[in-house]
Amino acid sequence: MKTFAVIGDPIAHSLSPTIHNEVFRQLNLIASFERIHIHPNNLHSFINSNELDGFNVTIPHKQSVIPFLNKLDESAKIIGAVNCVHNGKGFNTDWIGFLIAMDLNHIELKGKNCLILGAGGAARAIAFALANNGVKSISIKNRTQEKAAQLLDWVQSFYPNPTSTNDPDIVINCTPVGMWPDTEPMPDLDITPNQVLVDTIYNPIETAWLKAGQKFGAKTVGGLDMFIAQGLASADIWFKDKISERIKLEPIKKELDTVLC
Ligand SMILES: NC(=O)c1ccc[n+]([C@@H]2O[C@H](COP(=O)([O-])OP(=O)(O)OC[C@H]3O[C@@H](n4cnc5c(N)ncnc54)[C@H](OP(=O)(O)O)[C@@H]3O)[C@@H](O)[C@H]2O)c1
Repeated sequence: MKTFAVIGDPIAHSLSPTIHNEVFRQLNLIASFERIHIHPNNLHSFINSNELDGFNVTIPHKQSVIPFLNKLDESAKIIGAVNCVHNGKGFNTDWIGFLIAMDLNHIELKGKNCLILGAGGAARAIAFALANNGVKSISIKNRTQEKAAQLLDWVQSFYPNPTSTNDPDIVINCTPVGMWPDTEPMPDLDITPNQVLVDTIYNPIETAWLKAGQKFGAKTVGGLDMFIAQGLASADIWFKDKISERIKLEPIKKELDTVLC
């Protein structure tokens, strides 16, 4: 029996087990997936002593786990954050999940002016994804301006591009603004009808910001497809097989639907 987990602090509300248990069910895999609460002080000893076949890493360990790993996948090294570990090697599947979600929702990135709201781990992974998919420009807006400037410098270091936040084609919310349980607030930004609004938040499935966007005629994409896709990309790494291509998404969504707002 293979054993997998997601580690974080807090971890009780993680929905990763829902995704992976459904994957195991669909493919008749004999495997388990649990949530493990790891306090930052115990991260090093957990990494050294666990006997798992693979695990996901979530807040607040995505960056702090790196010094304890033997090796990093190239994209995780560039992004500077790990959300998936296999045999002591760290990977980042958030950026892959974002690209798959864009593909599933028929969002063309090439040549588009993109604005990222936020400058944390998700913003970094998504900036990396945008830079690797030929967007025209990447702009960053963040509560702490200094962090926005740092993220922009980082992006410009490997993807020099013109930056302008005026009338972006695609806006991606990488902040927790609007996330359950505080679901009323929304990013403070004018919405225009031709825009694509992408939220990384998946609880609620449709945020107040996306609902407002629809009223303005914008196309909207919630965070659930990205969340499922980053989980399936992790499973591909753990099982060394493209199992994600054999998975039906609808039953996973149905399972998640029962626990999301
Ligand atoms: N769908 C998915 O698969 C997926 C994957 C990863 C993350 N996410 C989502 O992405 C979001 C961000 O996650 P993260 O890992 O990037 O977190 P993070 O590293 O903690 O970064 C959070 C960012 O949000 C900003 N922020 C926090 N509270 C805010 C507020 N009240 N008003 C305005 N800005 C605020 C922070 O600004 P400061 O710099 O000013 O602190 C920071 O830039 C979360 O909602 C998470 O659930 C989704």
